[in-house]
Amino acid sequence: MNRNPIGVFDSGVGGLTCLEELRKLLPNEDIVYLGDTARVPYGTKSRETIACYARQDIAFLEKFDVKMILIACGTVSSVLMTENLFDGSRTELYSGVIYPAVKSAYAQTKNRRIGVIGTPATIRSGCYGRALRELCPDIKVVGKACPLFVPLVENGYTNVDNKVTRLVAEEYLDVMKKENVDTLIMGCTHYPLLKDIFADILGDRVSLISPGAEAARFAAKELMKRDLLNDREGEGSCKLFCTDSEELFSENVTAFLGNEVTAEISKCTL
Ligand code: DGL
Repeated sequence: MNRNPIGVFDSGVGGLTCLEELRKLLPNEDIVYLGDTARVPYGTKSRETIACYARQDIAFLEKFDVKMILIACGTVSSVLMTENLFDGSRTELYSGVIYPAVKSAYAQTKNRRIGVIGTPATIRSGCYGRALRELCPDIKVVGKACPLFVPLVENGYTNVDNKVTRLVAEEYLDVMKKENVDTLIMGCTHYPLLKDIFADILGDRVSLISPGAEAARFAAKELMKRDLLNDREGEGSCKLFCTDSEELFSENVTAFLGNEVTAEISKCTL
């Protein structure tokens, strides 16, 4: 048993898709979340810059003696070898989102045609395709960079009726329809906030995979396996940090999590 918190980070609000699932699976765990909103998006930055930001994010979470760190960011997880990020760090348990998402997508596909949408950096890395082909060499992977989705999400354009977001999504997802994929990895953790629009466009024949939620499921299993769960009864605390305006972050958090999660929100510097 271990009562230390779980650390989660992303460039912004996308990692809340991971936090939400963690709260459902492990409601009595304490969670510290960092959204690096001052420097979002990461997906258009160079590998060196992303590595530098990710190391600072990890160092911040380590101040809370976290027992595990979840990299709830598709860009960091795919552009960097995540093991290297933890060289010389005291965090022994960590996970990115690639492996959990790929495992779930492979389990769900029936026609072995999987789509991956993500930030330009994630799609350029080819990481999801490589991981899928390791599981099954003849799988068809269709990748599409969707750079406009992160700013749309960070600005709250997430409603299923939003005309602007729908137009952009129709354009980006057209290739997935043409290629007849039956499973779509929403390879950036911001994207599940648009899942109702994606489902409307692609129809219910296509399974949508949320990497953040998959990483949370993976974390729950790992913590259980290693006997590191919190044995306290009652609800765990949820501390949320952002690096830019607390007001904007709070609005986004409320829009996403509703009032289901009581969280303390503060601004921090890295
Ligand atoms: N949530 C991040 C990801 O999963 C957002 C990307 C970004 O900051 O560009 O890739």
